[in-house]
Amino acid sequence: MKIMVIQGPNLNMLGVREKQIYGPMKLEQIHAQMKDFAESNNTEIEFFQSNLEGEIVDKIQECYGEVDSIIINAAAYTHTSIAIRDAISAVGIPAIEVHISNIHRREEFRKTNMIAPVCASSVVGFGAFGYHLAMMGALQIMNEIRAVQEMQQAASAE
Ligand code: DQA
Repeated sequence: MKIMVIQGPNLNMLGVREKQIYGPMKLEQIHAQMKDFAESNNTEIEFFQSNLEGEIVDKIQECYGEVDSIIINAAAYTHTSIAIRDAISAVGIPAIEVHISNIHRREEFRKTNMIAPVCASSVVGFGAFGYHLAMMGALQIMNEIRAVQEMQQAASAE
């Protein structure tokens, strides 16, 4: 099983950027923890960060047929990007969106969310720990899908 982690604009600045909102951890540290957790659960994981909307769309498209679950923090594009929303919808891979901060408790414009309706779930406001929760969710979803596929295979073999 494989998870793709996609990080949107300015998340490469974690650890420097508005630490009172986003906390002290750098993106590399978050990814190192995720990698450890993935390895201990026999799961492949890949990381991608971009400040460019089109590159994020390209990466989501590349996931088609290659990846079992997507964890995405589309950052500011969450609030604006129909293109990222359509890409998630197009590939049909279960996606979990993460927001480090609680976007519902912040500025009005952050309450608009283009991405959430096409995701399996959202993790919001847990700080960097939200990525760990998203991984637990992704593992659960992938296991459930696999169990259903195995049942279908068993039924069609009868
Ligand atoms: C964010 C919230 C967004 O509103 C913001 O633009 C970000 C980060 C979060 O993780 O809390 O860049 O997605």
